[in-house]
Amino acid sequence: MSSEPLSLSFNPAGIELDRRQGLSRQLYQALRVRVLDGRLASGTRLPASRDLAAALAISRNSVVRAYDQLYAEGFIEGRVGDGTYVAQLPQASLPVKKIAKRVATASSTPGAELPVVLSSTVVYSGALERVEKNHLATPPSGPPRAFRVGVPAFDLFPFEVWAKLNAAFWRKPDLQQLCYGPPEGDARLRAMIAAYLRSSRGMQCTAEQIVITSGAQQGISLCAQLLVEPGDVVGIENPGYRAAGHAFAVAGARLQGVAVDSEGIDCAELTALGDCRLAYVTPSHQYPTGVVMSLARRLELLAWAERAQGWIVEDDYDGEYRYSGAPLAPLAALDRQGRVLYVGTFGKVAFPALRLGYLVLPPALVAAFSQRRAVDVRHSEVSTQAVMAEFMAAGHFQRHIRRMRRAALSRRNTLLAGWPQNIPGIGSLPSVAAGLHLTVAVESQARERELVEKAASVDVEINALSTYWLADSQTPVDQRAGLVLGFAAVPEAAISAALGRLEKIWRA
Ligand SMILES: Cc1ncc(COP(=O)(O)O)c(C=O)c1O
Repeated sequence: MSSEPLSLSFNPAGIELDRRQGLSRQLYQALRVRVLDGRLASGTRLPASRDLAAALAISRNSVVRAYDQLYAEGFIEGRVGDGTYVAQLPQASLPVKKIAKRVATASSTPGAELPVVLSSTVVYSGALERVEKNHLATPPSGPPRAFRVGVPAFDLFPFEVWAKLNAAFWRKPDLQQLCYGPPEGDARLRAMIAAYLRSSRGMQCTAEQIVITSGAQQGISLCAQLLVEPGDVVGIENPGYRAAGHAFAVAGARLQGVAVDSEGIDCAELTALGDCRLAYVTPSHQYPTGVVMSLARRLELLAWAERAQGWIVEDDYDGEYRYSGAPLAPLAALDRQGRVLYVGTFGKVAFPALRLGYLVLPPALVAAFSQRRAVDVRHSEVSTQAVMAEFMAAGHFQRHIRRMRRAALSRRNTLLAGWPQNIPGIGSLPSVAAGLHLTVAVESQARERELVEKAASVDVEINALSTYWLADSQTPVDQRAGLVLGFAAVPEAAISAALGRLEKIWRA
């Protein structure tokens, strides 16, 4: 209950809302921009939701939803009995302001003033020696089973809808579409993806910034090919997604593992690398530890990229899966300087074999990336792109995401509820707020091996956390041990059955 006057330091007069669009999202974005560019300084008191609703002539619910999201992302904080304040955030906003001015005077396109240093060499002969061969294995194939990592609940994919849309495309194909197409991808699909990212991820991107790829992996690989010169240092999360490391190593990068703590990649360690100009990160849900990068760390990382005149490759492979609140704003949504290359995939919402993904690029990079794609593969196969565009336009995609999120949540709950308790050497289960997998610590690498082997003997697939580390890691081997379990790949009954088998074999 509050009828206090609006805080002197916050004037909502500049906020303009379009009543035909979602009001809470617009308000959230308007406030977020003001925090990021410093117009709303740390410690500024925000009006009570009722007062702001009255001042903007919108419902209180819209304000509460916008505040909830800002809370969830760490932009604002509540003080008990004393209202809502802008959180204490690192000074990324100052440079952002400076850069914003520079960009505004140089060009209206973020990133257009940056020197685009693209690698001249795309093949590096020593590359394979630089990647440990035992980690080059392709992801497991065959029917999904508990607890395969990296696989969504694709048994729930609406194959009939897809088949109908596919049949409609081929029944009367537009002959123009069957010739060579644009290397950056189907124009309608690019527009649909941009609209989806604007509404669901808070990104201010346009269709022109999207380049369609064959899954996230090709997106990462293109970043490596175009941004890395042989010998360049690339900072990657350690432990991390090894296939990303491979893509950079094959382009000639010197990989440097950077530690991940409870807030995400350690920016001090990244900064200490000195000559590193490219960092690969998974902020929505760190792979494989599951850490969600805090807002403070996101801003610190963006500030690093500016200082280093570097690039951030943001792999948002499973950002759709968040089980409380809306997904956190990606780095690309906070980036004001065109330094973030955002990698997305349909593999975790539809199914991996679709091989459909996308990059959202700073505008200055789009031409180089699409030219490179033209050289590699010309463009992606046309019908998959056209059918996905129609799938999105007709609303099936959004419905399917909701279905997949519910399914993943239920499967997660089944795993958490039935997990064998008090097995020697296994740490406690984490709380799982996002993603499709969880990681649990194990006391030693020997015990990790034993647990994984016993699980395999009863047809249960568990990944050893130690395999996600770079070989030259400083962290003692036993501290690298753990179990990585994907919980979405199979239905609840199969999860329960697998847990029963695990319980038996691990206690034997
Ligand atoms: C962190 C991460 N990035 C990217 C991918 C690959 O996605 P895609 O199948 O679209 O290439 C995966 C697959 O599991 C992943 O775990």
